[in-house]
Amino acid sequence: MIVTLDGPASSGKSLAARRLADRLGWPHLNTGAMYRAVTLAALERGVDLTDGAALAALAAAPELEFTPGSVRVFGRDPGPALRSRAVDESIKLVADCPAVRAVLVARQQAMAGEDLVTEGRDQGTIVFPAAALKIYLTASLATRARRRLGDVLRDRPGATLDEVMDDLARRDADDQGRAIGALRIAADAVQLHTDDLTPEEVTDRLVALVEAARAAAGGGR
Ligand code: C5P
Repeated sequence: MIVTLDGPASSGKSLAARRLADRLGWPHLNTGAMYRAVTLAALERGVDLTDGAALAALAAAPELEFTPGSVRVFGRDPGPALRSRAVDESIKLVADCPAVRAVLVARQQAMAGEDLVTEGRDQGTIVFPAAALKIYLTASLATRARRRLGDVLRDRPGATLDEVMDDLARRDADDQGRAIGALRIAADAVQLHTDDLTPEEVTDRLVALVEAARAAAGGGR
């Protein structure tokens, strides 16, 4: 069964998707990491970020290895570089590029086995429109900024909550305004607001939704 988790930046998707996949014993695909890997590779190789064909060739290159649970760039685990400020600042050009999206969508679809928890922005709308369960995870801007501030402070001591809120609002606008692959709530998605939920409660709700979807499908697996 394919379970998609979409939602805005810092909505807690990655943690929720990882925990859900762990509880179910299923593979977990973080598609944001794929866009990050292409951006990092382009920065390392000096690829022109406005050259869509060159970016798409990089996205398709076997030197960028993607499996559920792991990303390798030129033969190595990129580690924290995937979430560096340089990547954050350049990723919009990569994620907005239709040719890159076409390549990565195909690579994501090719990774789907029988069971998968996949997270991103377009998983339920574009990549797996027939997914058995689609979840849209969200939280208020203030909650998301509070959750994110700790990470930002590690990188940038002195950062303020207001700055983080502005940055998230800009990312939301980018995600929603993208011509292809924009962040939208699929018509058949279940929405989960996580403002008042702990990560454990989010996981419990998601597991319950998967169980209900399995029962509805008659599989019982
Ligand atoms: O989820 P994360 O913040 O790591 O995503 C990194 C970037 O990749 C974001 O800018 C997001 O808009 C983009 N992205 C995307 N489509 C996806 C997943 C992420 O455009 N399916």
